[in-house]
Amino acid sequence: MIIIKTPKEISLMKEGGKILADILDKVSDTVTSGISTLELDRLAKKLIREAGGDPAFLNYTVEGEEDNPYPGTLCTSVNSEVVHGVPSKNMILKEGDIIGLDIGMFYKGLCTDMAKTVGVGKISEDIQKLLYVTEKALKKGISQVKSGVHIGNIGSAIQQYVEEEGFSVVKQLVGHGVGKEVHEEPRVPNYGKSGTGIKLEEGMTLAIEPMVNVGDELVQTEDDRWTITTVDKSLSAHFEHTIAVTKNGCSILTEK
Ligand code: MF3
Ligand code: CO
Repeated sequence: MIIIKTPKEISLMKEGGKILADILDKVSDTVTSGISTLELDRLAKKLIREAGGDPAFLNYTVEGEEDNPYPGTLCTSVNSEVVHGVPSKNMILKEGDIIGLDIGMFYKGLCTDMAKTVGVGKISEDIQKLLYVTEKALKKGISQVKSGVHIGNIGSAIQQYVEEEGFSVVKQLVGHGVGKEVHEEPRVPNYGKSGTGIKLEEGMTLAIEPMVNVGDELVQTEDDRWTITTVDKSLSAHFEHTIAVTKNGCSILTEK
């Protein structure tokens, strides 16, 4: 069941999303060679708590895997890690790395979810292109959104652009509804055909989150049962926003 949010709920999500965007900026400004991903996680947790929110990913469990709660506030996915990289004191960033920072927060009872990928120090032009294309793919997906449009239009726009640029889009993981919970219906694929899937309706709140690989699209789960990596070990980037569907388009809830 897709949960339609009221205008009041959407305005609360926008309030939380704006704070979350500011927190993610502060965390990404702290990314530097020599820092551990656990230090970034600690900062994110402190900033969320100071803002009166609750980390949405901390202790999150997947159905059937209740013995493996997510231990972080942030997901920190370095280089060939696609998403859900687990913060660790042993993961020390170095010049030239890229890191995906994914963060979710419950604020006044409602959840917003966002991510971006940044370079550590100087990164090569090829890697800059990966980040640029992934962020632009997110924008292209978002630009499809309006009431009455099929959800397949989002994925189609993302996939077409990413493939034109010579990268591949991850298909084993998808975006999702968000708000009352971190993950709600519907699934929001980053691939597909226009004119397919459910029709978007005003008041739906979606996390759109393309994951783009330099090499092959296939991904796998590591032994920690969270970290997703590319099978071919190629680099991967991830950008995400929470949006609300409106009559004529959408409102991006996770921006400053
Ligand atoms: N944005 C990510 C997702 O939608 C974050 C989930 S992390 C988890 O998959 F711990 F909550 F699973
Ligand atoms: Co998400």
